[in-house]
Amino acid sequence: MTLTLKIVIGSTRPGRKGPQIADWVAGQARAQGGFDVEVVDLAAIALPLLDEVEHPVKRAYQHAHTQTWSAIVDSADAFVFVSPEYDFFAPASLVNAVQTLLHEWRYKPAAIVSYGGASGGLRAAQVLRGLLGNVGMMAIPQGVMLPGFAAHLHDDGFQPPQIAADSAGVMLAELAKWAGALKPLRA
Ligand SMILES: Cc1cc2nc3c(=O)[nH]c(=O)nc-3n(C[C@H](O)[C@H](O)[C@H](O)COP(=O)(O)O)c2cc1C
Repeated sequence: MTLTLKIVIGSTRPGRKGPQIADWVAGQARAQGGFDVEVVDLAAIALPLLDEVEHPVKRAYQHAHTQTWSAIVDSADAFVFVSPEYDFFAPASLVNAVQTLLHEWRYKPAAIVSYGGASGGLRAAQVLRGLLGNVGMMAIPQGVMLPGFAAHLHDDGFQPPQIAADSAGVMLAELAKWAGALKPLRA
C-alpha cells in the first residue's frame, strides 16, 4: 500500500524559516521510507482568509485556490504540519488553511513539528492539535519540538541535534501505522 505524506509549511511570511525546517523533515521521512513524501508550501497556494461563500462541509468551492488546496489535501494519507509559534499560538496562515476545508482532513493522521525559542513551539503545537481533532483528524501525540532552532540553521540546511532526528523517527513510524490503519476507513 502506497502512503502519501504531505509536509505542510505552516508559515507564509517573507523571510520565514519554515521551508528549511520542512526540508529537514522531508529528508528524515525519505530516509526512513514508508511514504511518498511531498512538501506543500502554503505561501505558494496563497489562500486568502476564508473567502468561500459556502461552509466547507458542502465542498462547493468557487475559487481556484480552494480547489487546488482541496485536491492536495484530498490526495494525502498523512500530514506533518511544520509550525512556528506566534505569540504562544499557531500561525494564522495554518489555522486558515485547516479551516478552509473539512471532509478532506477526516480520518487522516497528522503530526506536528514545531519550532521556536525556549518553548520549541510547544504551545502552538498544543493548540493546533485541538483544531486538527476538531476537523476529524487523528492528531498523534508524537511530534518534534525544536527549541532554539535558529542556532541550527546553516548555509547547507537545518542541522538539529540527534534528539530531534530520534523524535522524528518515532513520530514518522507512528504516523505510518495510523496512515495504514485509517486508509481503509476512507475507502
Ligand atoms: C509575530 C511573531 C510572533 C512570535 N512569537 C513567538 C512565540 O510566541 N514563541 C517563540 O518561540 N517565538 C516566537 N516568534 C519568533 C519565531 O520563533 C521566529 O521568528 C521563527 O522564525 C518564526 O517562524 P517562521 O520564520 O517560519 O515564520 C515570533 C515571531 C513572530 C514573527
